[in-house]
Amino acid sequence: MKDKLDGIKCAALDIIERAENTSQLNDARVKYLGKSGEISLLMRDMATVPKEERPAMGKLVNELRAAVENALNAKTELISQLELDRRLKEEAIDVTMPAKGKRTGTLHPLTLITQELIEIFANMGFSVTEGPEIESDLFNFQLLNIPKDHPSRDMQDTFYVNDSILLRTQTSAMQARIMTQSKPPIRVVVPGKVYRSDDDASHSPIFNQFEGLAVDKHITMGDLQGCLQTFAQKIFSKDTKVRLRPSYFPFTEPSVEVDVTCSMCHGKGCRVCKGTGWVEILGAGIVNPAVFDACGIDSSVYSGFAFGFGIDRIAMIKYGIPNIKMLYENDMRFLKQFN
Ligand code: PHE
Repeated sequence: MKDKLDGIKCAALDIIERAENTSQLNDARVKYLGKSGEISLLMRDMATVPKEERPAMGKLVNELRAAVENALNAKTELISQLELDRRLKEEAIDVTMPAKGKRTGTLHPLTLITQELIEIFANMGFSVTEGPEIESDLFNFQLLNIPKDHPSRDMQDTFYVNDSILLRTQTSAMQARIMTQSKPPIRVVVPGKVYRSDDDASHSPIFNQFEGLAVDKHITMGDLQGCLQTFAQKIFSKDTKVRLRPSYFPFTEPSVEVDVTCSMCHGKGCRVCKGTGWVEILGAGIVNPAVFDACGIDSSVYSGFAFGFGIDRIAMIKYGIPNIKMLYENDMRFLKQFN
């Protein structure tokens, strides 16, 4: 029995000596001093020891328990001191380091321009609405006087979902929705995303348009021109001039393409206007009576004008952004510049 005690003592002190952390020490405590630990079990073996040897044996076991306990306590203190030192070192804060600055977000340039546009047209009496980006062929094309197989569909490479559903190629789809759902007088602008299968420095498969529609009695091309003149001077600068050129859209008749004097060089000629002094910014025209008829508005009583332009293009011209992709890549170095 005495040999057994010596064996346990050697092994226990060795394990305690080699323990490297609190968890290993706890394991050792359980192994020797726990309820069914080796030293506790020795007490049970006491029954097999001859009666006259028991007091001496009992004393030895108690000494063993005390030795193991002392070793455990000493090592526990050492290790917790070491662990504390390590944590203090690891979690030390260098108060002389410069603080991490808080990064606050900014509005996206397209959001800024859209807000500015809405404000300009709201001041001219237009209300604002939005519409679905997944649109039916009916509103995007047919009610706008663009029947199936019409050649002008080729101008807008369409992403079709199925035969009759598509990603809207133009916010003009909302013209048809609004005119079938409400009665004149109508004055509304529609900002929103549109989609076309088109991809280069000035075209992105997703981009943003801004549509305008006014329907009332006695609306003329003069009203359209005045409205666009005001818009161009507010969004670019007071000296901006507007020029209307004849064009073609199935849903307006007559149709125009609208140029403004270049806001970068004020008409002198530069990179943005390719030396011409003018930049094309939008398509517009007098609402085609055929569209009124299709949408249920009396074309013998009412007339109207409509216009549509790319918000991206306005942002690019206004801020001198060379590539439309920069508006969609979310590079913080670029976006930060538009506070
Ligand atoms: N929807 C046309 C386009 O995307 C622009 C336009 C809108 C033209 C309204 C005339 C009237 O090119």
